[in-house]
Amino acid sequence: MRFGVIGANTDLRGGIVFKYFPREEGVLAAICERDPAMVEKFRKTWPEFAQTPVYADYREMLKVPELEAVFIMVRDPYHEEMAVAALEAGKAVYLEKPMAITLEGCDRILEAAYRTGCKLFLGHNMRYLPVVLKMKELIDSGVIGEVQSVWCRHFISYGSCYFRHWCAEQKNCTGLLLQKGAHDIDVIHWLAGGYTERAVGMGRLSVYNRTTDRLAPGEAPDRAASWKEDCWPPDQLKGLSPELDVEDHSMLLMQLDNGVQASYEQCMYTPDSERNYTFIGTRGRLENVGDMESAEVHVWTKRGSRQEPDQRHVIPAMDGSHGGSDAAIIKAFFDFAGKGITPATSPLAARNAVAAGVAGHLSMRNGNMPQVIPPVPAEWIAYFENGQKKTDR
Ligand SMILES: NC(=O)c1ccc[n+]([C@@H]2O[C@H](COP(=O)([O-])OP(=O)(O)OC[C@H]3O[C@@H](n4cnc5c(N)ncnc54)[C@H](O)[C@@H]3O)[C@@H](O)[C@H]2O)c1
Repeated sequence: MRFGVIGANTDLRGGIVFKYFPREEGVLAAICERDPAMVEKFRKTWPEFAQTPVYADYREMLKVPELEAVFIMVRDPYHEEMAVAALEAGKAVYLEKPMAITLEGCDRILEAAYRTGCKLFLGHNMRYLPVVLKMKELIDSGVIGEVQSVWCRHFISYGSCYFRHWCAEQKNCTGLLLQKGAHDIDVIHWLAGGYTERAVGMGRLSVYNRTTDRLAPGEAPDRAASWKEDCWPPDQLKGLSPELDVEDHSMLLMQLDNGVQASYEQCMYTPDSERNYTFIGTRGRLENVGDMESAEVHVWTKRGSRQEPDQRHVIPAMDGSHGGSDAAIIKAFFDFAGKGITPATSPLAARNAVAAGVAGHLSMRNGNMPQVIPPVPAEWIAYFENGQKKTDR
């Protein structure tokens, strides 16, 4: 499969394609990158792609007829226009999460995929994360009975990174409950077996707005600074974006269409990092301890006041970024676009994760009013649930 990559940042999402794509199944036939310094870095880092043509404008790259597939690895506000253009140009599309920054944007992408019949794949890599897969396996085995209630607490020690770059402004991402939380809302939907139909949100910009010594307008941010030990305390940080208007902590309550009720809490200024999920069913509860590098899943099925779980599942550490899930999801795209193998990710689910995130932001910015999520047309549901094949019914 001859493919192109839009957004050739070798240290970020473009880099996972260059690193992990299966050489026996794909040929990197073009890249599109608007930053000349990034193109130079790409050339130096990947001498094996020295001859790969480079485009500054993605529309020019999409005109190449031999290109069968495109990876869209750029910031969220471009997802909608680039995905629709790539589908209309007849390419299979790998689109990074979140699908788009509005519900309307997601529905435009779904419509374009349905109309053109071109394959659409969403980069929700947490569906390939070993600890998530173990929790899904345990829930599907029935060990905790029927899931009724889900809580996810999300602590983000490197959260200041989002307040250094494009994510700091609502106009670029809507907000971080959607931008970052789309991963977790999707996991909650997947493991609980339903989609949010009504949501309530609460959140505030409470800490990073206190910082001074911000970047000058247009000055390049130092993203890596947010991973350093001295990146503390959060209200004293330097070098954040001059404009900040997204919430730095948020909470979302979700009513799912199968009766399950869920909550997701995100904080961007904690000293530690973890996604901590609890699924509670009619016969027990499970919880993860650790998520990316090494993790355990604890299960309680017997009543008692003790802390010790009845089952403890140790998840071995996997090589590669994001706990091994990045390598797995790139392979899954080639399996899907090239061989028709159904992936774990789903465009409908990606849309519904954005829908819940958007609803949470609307609610938190409008007096915590509940927001009802509009459904997608039945024929789209049938198409996407049937492996992106049209049926006669
Ligand atoms: N799945 C995950 O775990 C995960 C992790 C991090 C980021 N992401 C997602 O990856 C995407 C990329 O994030 P980012 O912060 O690296 O984005 P970014 O847009 O800042 O940078 C990506 C690269 O794309 C280039 N670029 C940006 N706009 C372009 C355009 N119009 N034409 C050509 N090149 C362009 C930039 O120069 C840069 O090299 C986002 O959608 C983000 O949500 C996903």
